[in-house]
Amino acid sequence: MKKILLSLATAMLLVPTAFSQVYLDAKAPIEERVEDALERLTLEEKLGLIHAQSKFSSAGVPRLGIPTVWCTDGPHGIRAEVLWDEWNTAGWTNDSVTAFPALTCLAATFNPNMSLLYGRAIGEEALYRGKQVLLGPGVNIYRTPLNGRNFEYMGEDPCLSATMVVPYIKGVQAQGVAACVKHFALNNQEDGRHTTNVHVSDRALYEIYLPAFKAAVQQGGAWSIMGSYNRYRDQYACHNQYLLQDILRKEWHFDGAVISDWGGCCNTDQAIHNGLDMEFGSWTNGLTEGKSNAYANYYLADPYRDLILAGKVGTEELDQKVRNVLRLIFRTSMNGYVKYGALCNEEHQSVARRIAGEGIVLLQNNGGLLPIKKEVKKILVVGENAIKPLTVGGGSSSLKVKYEISPLAGICERAGKDFDVKYVRGYVGTGATVQDGMVSGAEMEDKRPVAEVQAEAVAAAREADLVIFIGGLNKEGHQDCEGVDRLQYELPYGQDEIIAKLAAVNPNIVFVNISGNAVAMPWLQQVPAVLQGWFNGSEAGHALADVLFGDVNPSGKLPFTIMPALTDYPAHQMGAEVYPGVSNEHYPILMEEYYKEDLFVGYRYADLSPKARKALTGVACKSQPLFAFGHGLSYTTFAYSDVKLEGRFLTVTITNTGDRAGKEAVQLYVAPQKPKVARPVKELKAFKKIALEPGESRTVKFEIKDEMLQYFDDQKHEWTLDAGKYQLLVASSSADIRGKAMYEVK
Ligand code: GLC
Repeated sequence: MKKILLSLATAMLLVPTAFSQVYLDAKAPIEERVEDALERLTLEEKLGLIHAQSKFSSAGVPRLGIPTVWCTDGPHGIRAEVLWDEWNTAGWTNDSVTAFPALTCLAATFNPNMSLLYGRAIGEEALYRGKQVLLGPGVNIYRTPLNGRNFEYMGEDPCLSATMVVPYIKGVQAQGVAACVKHFALNNQEDGRHTTNVHVSDRALYEIYLPAFKAAVQQGGAWSIMGSYNRYRDQYACHNQYLLQDILRKEWHFDGAVISDWGGCCNTDQAIHNGLDMEFGSWTNGLTEGKSNAYANYYLADPYRDLILAGKVGTEELDQKVRNVLRLIFRTSMNGYVKYGALCNEEHQSVARRIAGEGIVLLQNNGGLLPIKKEVKKILVVGENAIKPLTVGGGSSSLKVKYEISPLAGICERAGKDFDVKYVRGYVGTGATVQDGMVSGAEMEDKRPVAEVQAEAVAAAREADLVIFIGGLNKEGHQDCEGVDRLQYELPYGQDEIIAKLAAVNPNIVFVNISGNAVAMPWLQQVPAVLQGWFNGSEAGHALADVLFGDVNPSGKLPFTIMPALTDYPAHQMGAEVYPGVSNEHYPILMEEYYKEDLFVGYRYADLSPKARKALTGVACKSQPLFAFGHGLSYTTFAYSDVKLEGRFLTVTITNTGDRAGKEAVQLYVAPQKPKVARPVKELKAFKKIALEPGESRTVKFEIKDEMLQYFDDQKHEWTLDAGKYQLLVASSSADIRGKAMYEVK
């Protein structure tokens, strides 16, 4: 018997490796799985893994049981299923989803816990829909209020974006779905996005534009990154030596997969050598070429194979790409988890409503007009955005939703029998929205003359106790939409005119800006209450009503600066080469753009004196923000006291001095004193959101870490801490400093 067992054991050891399939073993170390799978692959199979086979999928290896990789937009919800090689929807009847608030709203919560909830919920929806890669979140910095896709991103400040993106990624990837952080890098506008060559200093690159991506990789552990369309240092970002090799791989040690934007790859040699792992969206009829440019013609498909077979390139780059793709697969579809996700359940809907309610920003509330008082009986709701579905449209983040509660529906539902709610159009924008074969709001056609529409609204306003104007932008072309920037800073469709007319007949008026961007507010003195309402998805109407009626005490803070006019932004003071870019003198189709405002984006510019502003841009702009970065009111009030610095720890006591519970995002800014190099007056370096009952006090503690004080020395190419004094500012907004302490680095 013993002999038999011994010979059996020996036989087992000799069994050919083909049967010890380590790559299939989800408990095996992932790098062993990668190497085991790699050595089993043929050249054709390797190439199949690194480029698309359809609009949103890349091939697996059927022979080895390695699944197809399915990608899906977008940052706010799971895009409707599309046909194999189309952008248009496939007409499925089981792919309606939850639309979560736009990421500007998530950023405005200043609450990383909300990001974790968000990531988990959207990750579950992606998993349920059978997707392995979620094409989001986006963290490009808000450099200009005209950028068509600011609503998909997290504002103007690198610390806010970096802090808020990490939990989102962790939440998504906890479901076994890869986040694909985009668009790496310097994709800060939509105009000319496919060709613009961005010129930016190393300091601005490292201190402003990269931190959120670095945090996504190093703290978030992002499993994939999407290269952007634009160029940097003359190379397309989807195959860019500096961004993808020098920074992403060598400096940040990224071990995930680099995925091109759709159509972002345009050169085989650079794609081979500069770090692109997966090529999507190149030559199909969804972009610029007909079906004849089938997937075999992708740059990393037959052209790459031909170079290898001709001995012109080796296979080491190919194997590295395949390793990154295999690692992505073993982290997602082959991770061995027994998880199935969930779709449109009450938990997700509650998360969407909660984040929206916590991200809405109460910008102004003169006379305490809000929350709506019970003495108010007749409420007039005005504006197309009160009824227009806004989850369809805006480009790749467009969604087919299970439902969408409009602001009007939310207000009517909450008002119930206690209030008499009337609605008038007030202004007519574009009526129905059509995208990817989906039509929403078809019933919104309104052919009446403007004068008639306005007269109706003014007459109704005379009779109302409260007017709630719901306007803003609407994700139509040039109105916060992918592919094109806004054409103006002012509100479109004659909104400014009707708002002024309504305010003239009824001083009790609220303006709700449904947008992902700042807008001009020429009527601000006549409108006592102003809310930044965001594109808030399926639960938009419920969340807005929660805030308007006071069921939720607003606690959002602005993730970007709202200046009075477009020319008050530095990107709009130095001519076309600074924005939107100018034609390259030799190749007019290629744009060149120079970020000459450098570090001084948003409040970093607003903090400058007119003299310093003139030195920077040549314009002695004296304008101050209408509403500052980090600003947001509450229905209660908060006092800051006892600011103390002990060693590396700064503490401050926050007290709710009002009569109702509320939340406050306590912000910590650092102001270097007499720095040796040009530095912003102050920079956000930490924030904490706390909830306080009326009368309750809580002490908030911040640890002062060296990296909060450092700047990027572009001569030494490293982060540097200079000795000296650094003023620590505890604040309720970048323009509302509540306490100070001096920190010294010997
Ligand atoms: C688009 C967008 C990108 C999106 C991709 C797929 O052009 O730039 O954000 O994920 O293509 O739709």
